[in-house]
Amino acid sequence: MPKSFFYPLLEDPFRKKDLDKAIEVIKTGKLTIGKHTKKFEKVFTKKIKTKFSLMVNSGSSANLLALQCLINPYRKKRLERGDSVLIPTVCWSTSLWPIIQSGLNPVFVDIDPVTLNIDLKDLEKKINKRTKALLLVHVLGNSTNMNQLMKILRKKNIILIEDTCESLGSKYKNKYLGTFGEFSSFSFYSSHQISSGEGGMITCRNLEDYEILKALRSHGWSRGLKSEKNISKKNRHLDSRFIFYNSGFNLRPTDISASIGLSQFNDMNNFISLRNKNRNLIVNSLKKNKVISEKFYFVEANKNVKPSWFGIPIYIKNKKNRKKFIQNIEKKGIETRPIISGNFIRQPSVKKYKLINKAKFFNSDIVNDHGFFIGLPTKKINNIFVNRIIKAFEQSI
Ligand SMILES: Cc1ncc(COP(=O)(O)O)c(C=O)c1O
Repeated sequence: MPKSFFYPLLEDPFRKKDLDKAIEVIKTGKLTIGKHTKKFEKVFTKKIKTKFSLMVNSGSSANLLALQCLINPYRKKRLERGDSVLIPTVCWSTSLWPIIQSGLNPVFVDIDPVTLNIDLKDLEKKINKRTKALLLVHVLGNSTNMNQLMKILRKKNIILIEDTCESLGSKYKNKYLGTFGEFSSFSFYSSHQISSGEGGMITCRNLEDYEILKALRSHGWSRGLKSEKNISKKNRHLDSRFIFYNSGFNLRPTDISASIGLSQFNDMNNFISLRNKNRNLIVNSLKKNKVISEKFYFVEANKNVKPSWFGIPIYIKNKKNRKKFIQNIEKKGIETRPIISGNFIRQPSVKKYKLINKAKFFNSDIVNDHGFFIGLPTKKINNIFVNRIIKAFEQSI
């Protein structure tokens, strides 16, 4: 394995101006959640065209808050212990675990190998009386047919949570992913479309949920809630500054990460178009090569999706060659990884928690056994770089 890849999964995502913003915050000495976090939330809400946004310390925390909000006693319409939540088998660990951590029952749905996203036919088959929500994952910037999905969910009265951690900036029919559901999560971890080091955002549609999420994010405190004054009036026996109105976690970001996140978010459109240009240049060049195009299949954006690509997902047609190919190409300096985490039900944690019996998910196995992805450079690339990639592919088959 080479010490450094010429084409890594992850580049240093920060520009001087992002770090300067962080340094300005550090110099004020006010590092904890504050005005920079509020500003980022406001700008994010406006740009994405959502109703309410709260910054958190990771995309995982955003998923946890969404599920915890759904079971919260302050929520009028809430989920009960044992209710079912649908989730695609190609998901991230912390798309799944908040369902279990919230006392709910995950029901796995297979995916469509062409889009890598949830298979709507299998989804319909898995719905029953206990199905109350869907934790949808938008994979690597791509998406399912959102019109058809929303029709199914509306008909069956199923709540949608969109895990948009890999797809910030992608649109379905000109509407941002992450604005279809009741809750959406976003991640600003370092390999994502924008980065704040660690960080994420949770969005929701109404004030009731916003107030619950805000309290849960910060110890269950009444501080900063719209209802803070009312709560303290009803609890005159308590110090109004220390009222714990709800259950809680501490999932707050720092103002340092908020300032970096906002600096990057302000340039999101440029980042997306550069990533997409790089993606098209690399994929089109690989496809033009006869040997490579015979042996590999490149995942394209689904119909009506204007993608904000996270990486470049690829299938090797002969699964027997996958392992050797991955070893070879990494030796040649191109870093790879599974598509999210492959078929998640094959992970030991799923077996340990006995989440699945013998059910088969054929399409997720295809992703697992044939799929991998390479990164997406965030700076302009040239033909020398692209030729090096082609050569590495040719020599690794
Ligand atoms: C689909 C998905 N959901 C959630 C997360 C978690 O985000 P974070 O790393 O910010 O906790 C990730 C991480 O990349 C992800 O890919």
